[in-house]
Amino acid sequence: MSTLLVKGGTVVSSTGRTVADVLVDGEQVVAVLAPGSDIAASVTADKVVDATGKYVIPGGIDAHTHMQLPFGGTEASDTFETGTIAAAWGGTTSIIDFAVQKYGERVEDGLSAWHEKARGNCAVDYGFHQIIGGVDEQSLKAMETLIDEGITSYKMFMAYPGVFYATDDQILRAMQKARELGLMTMMHAENGPAIDVLAEQLYNAGKTTPYFHGIARAWQMEEEATHRAIMLANLTEAPLYVVHVSAKQAVEQLATARDKGQNVFGETCPQYLYLSLEEQLGATGDPTWGEFEGAKWVCSTPLRSRAEGHQDAMWQALRTNDLQMVSTDHCPFCMKDQKELGRGDFRAIPNGIGSIEHRMDLLYQGVVTGEITLERWVELTSTTPARMFGLYGRKGVIQPGADADIVVYDPKGHTSIGVDKTHHMNMDHSAWEGYEIDGHVDVVISRGSVLVSDGEFHGRAGHGQYLKRGLTQYLT
Ligand code: URP
Ligand code: ZN
Ligand code: ZN
Ligand code: ZN
Repeated sequence: MSTLLVKGGTVVSSTGRTVADVLVDGEQVVAVLAPGSDIAASVTADKVVDATGKYVIPGGIDAHTHMQLPFGGTEASDTFETGTIAAAWGGTTSIIDFAVQKYGERVEDGLSAWHEKARGNCAVDYGFHQIIGGVDEQSLKAMETLIDEGITSYKMFMAYPGVFYATDDQILRAMQKARELGLMTMMHAENGPAIDVLAEQLYNAGKTTPYFHGIARAWQMEEEATHRAIMLANLTEAPLYVVHVSAKQAVEQLATARDKGQNVFGETCPQYLYLSLEEQLGATGDPTWGEFEGAKWVCSTPLRSRAEGHQDAMWQALRTNDLQMVSTDHCPFCMKDQKELGRGDFRAIPNGIGSIEHRMDLLYQGVVTGEITLERWVELTSTTPARMFGLYGRKGVIQPGADADIVVYDPKGHTSIGVDKTHHMNMDHSAWEGYEIDGHVDVVISRGSVLVSDGEFHGRAGHGQYLKRGLTQYLT
């Protein structure tokens, strides 16, 4: 097997940093060596990556993606191939995507269809969570088989009536089952039926532009559903992970439950840290702004008001560990033919933003501005995702025996984000157009293979392997 030495960089973990050489043999890390030591001096390798002056971090893990998700009469525009190539460019070497079981479909069939889409097409390693879009006797029974499939988490939706929506009685039953099996329950926490009434009222009043998506999906709808999910989890003693948290009031609900010792966790996403409803409205403050431009940022949960302080609250929660991770909820749709479906009716705009390529860079800005430490950056983007979803040891850390998923990050580098600049996602626009980033993903290594270096992609679709995951390693 061939050896690779990542030499002279500052190796960063969730708990510290040290200048060291990382020796890779085949697909795994075999040693982390203090430079200048006798062993380091005696090591020869087939290939050397010079990381002097740069950070050497465990490959990013994006635990919330939706490649090829059928949604709103169309399908998310990144395939497993294009989406995972974009991930690699951005320093993400593992994804956990959501396999879909639709109402009326067998879980096993939904899952095998997802394997079919991903198998042989991924440039980085991939695992699955299971969406249970219809809770009934059959799907509850099928949950028993998930752990053998390497799927230790499943997701339900309190939103999207008629699509993925689960009622409280269904949620209760699923959580009881999850508790019995040891599965992590993931929740899209928004009160869907109430949101649909508000959305219809806005539409009937002629308020049809994308901005009103965010008005209909008011923070009260997120706070209420988050609280309800927490209470159902409390009753059933099932651990709970709330996805794409954006409202500060929802974080307060999580924080209160955590203070009482409940196993509840939450992620936020770059869009909720940086973007806001005000920007979606546009500089003029006119709700018809840009006519349709705001559709780029239509996602659920929605962008929230900056004046209300939600973005600051997300950063704070990342520091206090009331939120534990940053995922993207990568769910891209092009403007042309996709977002366009909702011109004249915001309810028909497919929900989702594409960010998989920029998560590491965007969150690194929190290090630059002092919102989080370098170590916390690694923890939020790699180490905790690995622990939360049963991959730690193999992923999420640079240590002997771990997969050699390594990113060399240049803090003195620069990244310009834009559809014509750094963009490899299959989208005709960027939600992050014009962002100028301090820092640069220089080298990306996945299981010992160099996927990105010198501004070139050396990977291939099919390199990525399916990750059978273990139970969560995060319970308190
Ligand atoms: O807007 C979003 N988040 N689209 C993807 C589906 C979901 O709710 O996660
Ligand atoms: Zn969701
Ligand atoms: Zn999602
Ligand atoms: Zn560089």
